[in-house]
Amino acid sequence: MLRLVLGLAVTVAAAIPSATAADTATLSIDVSKPGAKIDRNVFGQFAEHLGQGVYEGVWVGPDSAIPNTRGIRNDVVAALKALKVPNVRWPGGCFADEYHWRKGVGPRRAVTLNPNWGGVTESNAFGTHEFMDFLDQIGAEAYLSVNVGSGTPQEAAEWLEYLTAAQPTTLAKERAANGHPAPYRIAYLGIGNESWDCGGNMTPEHYLSQMKAYSRFVRNFNPAQEKDPHRMLKIAVGPGGDGPRWTEWTDAVMKAWQGRSWSWDMDGLSLHNYTVVKWPPSYRSVGFGEAEYAQILQSTLEMDRLVATHAAIMDKYDPQKKIALVVDEWGAWYAPLPGSKEGFLVQQNSLRDGVLAALNLNIFARHADRVRMANIAQMVNVLQAMILTDKEKLVLTPTYHVFRMYVPFQGATFVPVRFDAGTYTHGDVTLPRLDAIAARDAAGKLWLAVTNLDPGRPVTVEATLAGTTPRSAAGETLTASRVDSVNSFEAPGTVSPKPIAASIQGATLALTLEPKSVTVVSVEQ
Ligand code: AHR
Repeated sequence: MLRLVLGLAVTVAAAIPSATAADTATLSIDVSKPGAKIDRNVFGQFAEHLGQGVYEGVWVGPDSAIPNTRGIRNDVVAALKALKVPNVRWPGGCFADEYHWRKGVGPRRAVTLNPNWGGVTESNAFGTHEFMDFLDQIGAEAYLSVNVGSGTPQEAAEWLEYLTAAQPTTLAKERAANGHPAPYRIAYLGIGNESWDCGGNMTPEHYLSQMKAYSRFVRNFNPAQEKDPHRMLKIAVGPGGDGPRWTEWTDAVMKAWQGRSWSWDMDGLSLHNYTVVKWPPSYRSVGFGEAEYAQILQSTLEMDRLVATHAAIMDKYDPQKKIALVVDEWGAWYAPLPGSKEGFLVQQNSLRDGVLAALNLNIFARHADRVRMANIAQMVNVLQAMILTDKEKLVLTPTYHVFRMYVPFQGATFVPVRFDAGTYTHGDVTLPRLDAIAARDAAGKLWLAVTNLDPGRPVTVEATLAGTTPRSAAGETLTASRVDSVNSFEAPGTVSPKPIAASIQGATLALTLEPKSVTVVSVEQ
């Protein structure tokens, strides 16, 4: 219920000293009716060998003047640690289906090409051991994408044996000789990438015959994981949109899974969905106005329908929701920044992207029973990045700040929020004005995230709690003067979170949200 505060203005103003004459929206939060757990893997990252995502963004080499640990940038590691990154998907993307792991291990690395992304040379300096070291430094799990398009089950099986065998096989001894005697832990295995397109243009039937072989033969030998209930989870290629082509893909893979034999299995089905409006990407990432703000947010909200569509097909074959929907590529894809290298997918990251990130994370949280993993594209310097680097300089993007503010939602239990979102209209685009989720963390603390999409109007949120009594609520809010405000190397703090506090009256907390803002507060009870 969104109503103008007329007669009520005095009451609200008294409750919230800093409030302007904002509209009021009411939220009902019932903590006695918890939902599914929000899997922390939903906050996963994606690092492809693409542009400066890995080389320069993560890897500078041990001889670099940029402070590094064994070649990996210390500043990037420190920033990512604050995000508690649960997993990193690597080495692609389209790159994965042309990646041959042997070229990226050992003292002599083959120089190859990266035909997908700018046709540049690939030094293979960042290979298996460097990736695992990077994960170790940031404290994340490996989500390895194996080459189905131009590789073989044998090549992938040997990679996994190299990584995970504890017994003294030739490959395990080679791993030890290359510096890592202990088996590595590989938590997630992606079997192909976009196999319907850059990954080999396969029909669902062709992909399924490949995927079954990979599922059977690509084994994890790490003894610790063999006994682990969270053994290596296998993720099959899923849809890349809606429409019959994609619903038929989901149907075919899920139907095959329902009729599976003992010899193969899968644990997840991937979904790729970029916020792009139309291909090729033409929306600017900076220097845009309210029309583009509204259109991009309208497009991003399509994620909800897409997830619901594919989740419904999955329900048909898997009513117990054993198979996770893994949104392992999502985010905004804009026109490349003028002057940037072709194929490097360089774009700025504005307040709009912070709002966009919050809306998607909220959608995943509402579908927490099925969406149990997601990977934003991509982590550093590519597409909707957390971090931008330029030689020794680093800047944190608005998307980074939203991921950091949402850390408490990792592994928390979803708590339903009822509200009437109201509307925000610009031109022919009408969007919900508000979005909100709530969750309870392991310590029992309640967290509330509220986004005000409207770039012109503040809103006062009055949240009534059932099942608990709030004592105080405080947190952070992210906004800036313009919808296209960005953090640059010269002005890195233009879009950065500021403290915010709510007032409490009985079972209701009141919070005034700035226009175009993302707010996360914790509620003391
Ligand atoms: O993230 C960039 C590319 O987008 C990935 O390589 C591919 O999987 C997708 O089409």
